Amino acid sequence: MSQATSSPAIGSGLQAELDPLDQRLSHNLADIKHKLVVMSGKGGVGKSTVAVQLAVGLALAGHSVGLLDVDLHGPSIPRMLGLKGHAEVLVDEQLIKPVIIDEGLKVISVELLIPNKDASVIWRGPMKIGVIRQLMGDVTWGNLDFLIIDAPPGTGDEPLTVAQNVEGAKVVLVTTPQEIALADLRKSMDFCRKLELPVLGLVENMAGMICPHCGEPVEFLGKGGGRDTAAKFGVKFLGSMPWDPRLMAAADAGRLVELLRRERDEAAPWQGMVEEVRDLLGERKK
Ligand SMILES: Nc1ncnc2c1ncn2[C@@H]1O[C@H](COP(=O)(O)OP(=O)(O)OP(=O)(O)O)[C@@H](O)[C@H]1O
Ligand SMILES: [Mg+2]
Repeated sequence: MSQATSSPAIGSGLQAELDPLDQRLSHNLADIKHKLVVMSGKGGVGKSTVAVQLAVGLALAGHSVGLLDVDLHGPSIPRMLGLKGHAEVLVDEQLIKPVIIDEGLKVISVELLIPNKDASVIWRGPMKIGVIRQLMGDVTWGNLDFLIIDAPPGTGDEPLTVAQNVEGAKVVLVTTPQEIALADLRKSMDFCRKLELPVLGLVENMAGMICPHCGEPVEFLGKGGGRDTAAKFGVKFLGSMPWDPRLMAAADAGRLVELLRRERDEAAPWQGMVEEVRDLLGERKK
């Protein structure tokens, strides 16, 4: 892959002044209606899980969806989806073909482009920026209703590159109920404010649990915490997801998409989150 190290904001200048990757990037993303970046200050709160839930739920609702994993150090989307092998790269045409899960859902992760999945790749900042920009410029998504971007935790190069290169991106913040997550949430909010990245809303994950015996939610951390947190931060509340051992087992087995499709149920909290997102973006009546 070639690398580009500069990252001027797309849309900030004339096409003629943009380098070829900038032009491809701008052109490629123009056919995508909504771009959502899933972010959190803290690691392991369920961003990748939420990104998959959003992608699958939106696809089930009839939208065309792309799922882009920009977590270069710990990409987990291929593992959760059981994707093996490599994505097809047409070097001469400078095209990367996404993996097609089905008609409505396409996926790409940097892990699908590197030869040895178990090798650690040492990414310097400019390399990361170049690779992410190339993923955004060269993946042949076609027309999409939604591009869901799964970012690593924190406010480093990856979310920064997305923020600076994806015009119109909106953020879905993920948090867990613990107090300690709130300090990180504050940092994420500050990051979004500084970069003028609109926050679509907040998702609370691992709130309570589904009882393994009766299948009902157990509200051991109390109810409404996520809603209060969203209100405190002045953002929309997109929903609260319980801790569900089946979700973790399915993700570990690479069968997360199958589980979500099988358990398709409009009353399920994750589908409530998807409907909130569609509502907020005016996509409910499709
Ligand atoms: N609601 C849930 N119920 C049960 N397990 C969950 C839930 N959400 C996430 N998990 C599990 O918790 C672990 C961490 O989730 P995930 O990888 O989605 O978090 P992340 O925020 O993307 O992590 P990272 O910061 O490393 O990217 C995974 O094993 C996942 O299967
Ligand atoms: Mg993740």
